[in-house]
Order: sequence, then C-alpha cells, then structure tokens
Amino acid sequence: MKDASSAVELKKAAALRASSLVESGMLVGLGTGSTTAFVLEELGRRVREENLKIECGATSFQAMLLGRKEGLLVHPLMFLERFDISIDGADEIDPQLNLIKGGGGAQTLEKLVHSMSEKFIVVADESKLVKNLGEIFSVPVEILPPAAAYAKKKLTELGASSCSIRMGLKKDGPVVTENGNLLLDAKFAVKDAEKLETQINEITGIVENGIFSRKSIRVNLAIIAGSQGLLEIKGAV
Ligand code: A5P
Repeated sequence: MKDASSAVELKKAAALRASSLVESGMLVGLGTGSTTAFVLEELGRRVREENLKIECGATSFQAMLLGRKEGLLVHPLMFLERFDISIDGADEIDPQLNLIKGGGGAQTLEKLVHSMSEKFIVVADESKLVKNLGEIFSVPVEILPPAAAYAKKKLTELGASSCSIRMGLKKDGPVVTENGNLLLDAKFAVKDAEKLETQINEITGIVENGIFSRKSIRVNLAIIAGSQGLLEIKGAV
C-alpha cells in the first residue's frame, strides 16, 4: 500500500508544476479537492511574494473559501464568462484523458468552469491512473431531490451495479451540493465514456454527472506525479 505521506508529496509536486503555468493577467478557474488545495496555496504565495496578478472563479465553496483565505481575488461565477486557465484534480484518469470527478461532490461547477476555460490542466498523483473508468470510483451524479428514486431506477437500467444517495459526515442525512441538489454514486464499469456521460445526462432530473469525456471537456494537459518524477501528457487537440 502506498505511504500516505508520499501520496501527499506527489499531489504537491503536480500542483506546484501546474501553478507555475499561471501568469499575471490570467483569469484562473480554481478546482476542488486535496490536490488542488496545494495549487491554491501556491497561487496565494505567488500573489503575496511574487506580485502575481490574477483573478479567479471557484468550482465549490471549498475552493472559494480557501482561495479567499490565501488572498486570491475570487469572483462569483455568475459574473464570469471565460477563464484563461483552470486547474483541477481527478478521481480517475484513463489513457485517453477521460476523467471521473466529483469525489468532493463538485463535478457540476467543475464541468462548467473547465468548459469555460481555454486551458484545462488536470493534476494528480499516479494512483489516479486507470485503464478503464469505473475501476475504483463510482460516477457521482447530481440530481434534483424529487428525482432521487426515478434517477436511481434509470441509472440501474443503464447498467449501474449499485447506486446510493451520498450521505453527509458530521451532518445527518444526505450531502447537499452547492446547487441545493443531492448526489447519487453510481457504480459503472465504463466501456464508452462519451456515450455513458451523454446517456446519464439524458435522464430527466439529472443535473450533471462526473464523467468528463473528451467530447464534453478537453483536458489540455495532465500533470501526473509518480515515484519516477512528473509525467506530462498533452491532450488531443
Ligand atoms: C471534487 O468534487 C473532485 O472532482 C476532486 O477534484 C477530485 O475528487 C480529486 O480530489 P483529490 O485531489 O482530493 O483526490
């Protein structure tokens, strides 16, 4: 099993490399999660110590709060129409740079922000690399609360082997997203990421799902940190 401290160091290494690609004058999309947290810390340091001048939008309350704590200027998304660059983590990354995201429940705003971005960079440690999406993680699916039972039935018909409402920790009842919705975690053995992403979103009552396929979101660069160093994989143009 991988040593937890080494996994943290790898996340940090990938995050520092991605942060170095941010330049003054850029509008930056801030991702969510433990890997991206290192990006926000580093951007904050550069703003304070290197006079980096950037403006940002956040994919979650976590990113907004941490960004503000680090001294970043974070605008509400509703006032932004594009980003120069966005940086985010992933739960799984396949060889075509299709992703599963949403371990932190933020996939809907993450997909919005990365769609708005000229350059989407994924940062991760090597444990996130998989042959096929769904090997480890379920697909997080944001749903309107009244659609819970219907969406669960339809996801099961689509081939989900299990499907459950995500429950809160230190809060009784389900997790409520930034958008006031609920999450279903649906376990799929993903054969065709683009097709499944589309099929899930066609179900009425589903807001967005955590498959980021090449069709919906182009990953421009993946920075993967491993025991052998940093691997940079360019996405297809
Ligand atoms: C947030 O909802 C997710 O999409 C995260 O970006 C993803 O879970 C990766 O998180 P870690 O960097 O904490 O592994």
